[in-house]
Amino acid sequence: MSTPITAPPPPPFDERLVPQAVAVLRAERRARRTGVPLPAGSRGPSWRNTYATLADPLRLLLDHRRRFGPVFTIRTVHEPVVWAIGAPENHQILVSDADAYQWRESRFGDLHPVLGDGMLNIDGQLHHQLRRLMLPAFHREQVEAVADIMVSEGVRAAERLEPGAEIDLYAWTRELALRIALRGLLGLREGDSRAPALADAFERALGLYGHPFVVQLLRGPRTPYATAQRACGELDALVRALIDDHRAQGADAPGVLGLLLGATDADGQPLDEQLVRDQLVTLLFAGHDTTTATLTFMMYELGRTPAARAAVRTELAEVLGDRDPRAGELDGTTLPVLERTLDETLRRYPAAWVGPRRTVRDTEISGVKVPAGIAVHYCSWATHHLPDLFPDPLAFEPARFLPERAKALPKGAYVPFGGGSRMCLGKRFGQYGLRALAAVLLRRVDLDPDPGDAPRITTTPTLGPRGGLRFAVNAPTGRSTSP
Ligand code: HEM
Repeated sequence: MSTPITAPPPPPFDERLVPQAVAVLRAERRARRTGVPLPAGSRGPSWRNTYATLADPLRLLLDHRRRFGPVFTIRTVHEPVVWAIGAPENHQILVSDADAYQWRESRFGDLHPVLGDGMLNIDGQLHHQLRRLMLPAFHREQVEAVADIMVSEGVRAAERLEPGAEIDLYAWTRELALRIALRGLLGLREGDSRAPALADAFERALGLYGHPFVVQLLRGPRTPYATAQRACGELDALVRALIDDHRAQGADAPGVLGLLLGATDADGQPLDEQLVRDQLVTLLFAGHDTTTATLTFMMYELGRTPAARAAVRTELAEVLGDRDPRAGELDGTTLPVLERTLDETLRRYPAAWVGPRRTVRDTEISGVKVPAGIAVHYCSWATHHLPDLFPDPLAFEPARFLPERAKALPKGAYVPFGGGSRMCLGKRFGQYGLRALAAVLLRRVDLDPDPGDAPRITTTPTLGPRGGLRFAVNAPTGRSTSP
């Protein structure tokens, strides 16, 4: 029996824009009154900066860091955001001063219409208790128990890839990653007739975040927000039916769903269905977009870097021979060249590229004062492109993650999964899935990006290739060795 979830529910979340804007104005006014100014930077309203934050944040952030130091302000739309870029700054926000920040009223709040009170939108005791409850589902043995699903789903999809074909790898992986998440997290069986409807409603709900940020903010009957709300209604009904089925059968549900359904509240009652729904949808959300984008970018870089691709393929042949990996071989140590390639992909393209927070009290980052109630963002993507930490940062070089070099990186330098008490819950699940899919694909085909189709990066909600990314499917070529 797990420890009951005794924490009270979070305060109601106000999705209306005006109250949110008023809260921001109040925080700024208070900061002026109490004499804790915003850090230097672009503090005035600027459409140019707002646009750049959305269109090319990496360049904007690195440029501001050069001009103002590691902690600076950029006003986006109406709101000043304090950005902190650098290894010690990340460590301070994620670990040593993590209690100075909350998530719920940060930009993660934009996800509330779809995710509700899932892990990304709660703080404090409720977050802590739910995390402790779900954590066992992400222990090594549990993830290895579903790793065969990752391999078999990958094999099934990869065997349909015909040399000579052209595919949008992003769309291909997205569908596959969602199927894996539905099976591995929600316990759906192969061929479960509920899967397509769940996937469809989920994708339509998430469609909100495919629109430009300003369009996401619109409210009214024909807006993307309204469409997402309708899709959310369908998604809710489907997830609740799944929960009811498991409860009615009295059977132990597998994995994280089992842990949530087995838990009780302070009165010894099963957890509120809405709370369970919010955790499940959040896991699906956090898990499938990130995996999809990472695999696509990995194949893009390997397609452009034949030596790196050949090195991974050689390792696969040497370690696995002529078969696909077994669960235990996806632990990150058995295939070190593949692992370095994955690490380097997550350096160049950390899918969850920004960590939004809001200060709960006056604080400081690297000696720069930051007032209470202000949005603070750390950014793995920008930190991963600081030449002091990663020389020639735009080059794709898996050898950066050779053990002796990786060990020399300071704390907070490499944070694709965040850190501290809110480190990515699904890190292991995501890594096993990525290793499995990469191995299965690289054993069978070369995926060659169209040289004229460089990815145009989108940053909402995760870092991904805007409009997908096309690859030619070819028979596999060479093997070789390199770091
Ligand atoms: C390549 C794959 C993934 C990457 C790069 C990634 C990255 C991250 C990052 C950076 C955070 C922390 C954000 C912050 O500090 O603001 C995070 C949190 C989280 N991730 Fe992941 N993630 C991945 C896969 C997954 C998967 C597969 C799942 C679920 C199965 C998942 C579930 C979560 C959850 C629930 C949180 C919130 C944790 C908490 O608040 O305690 N992630 N992820």
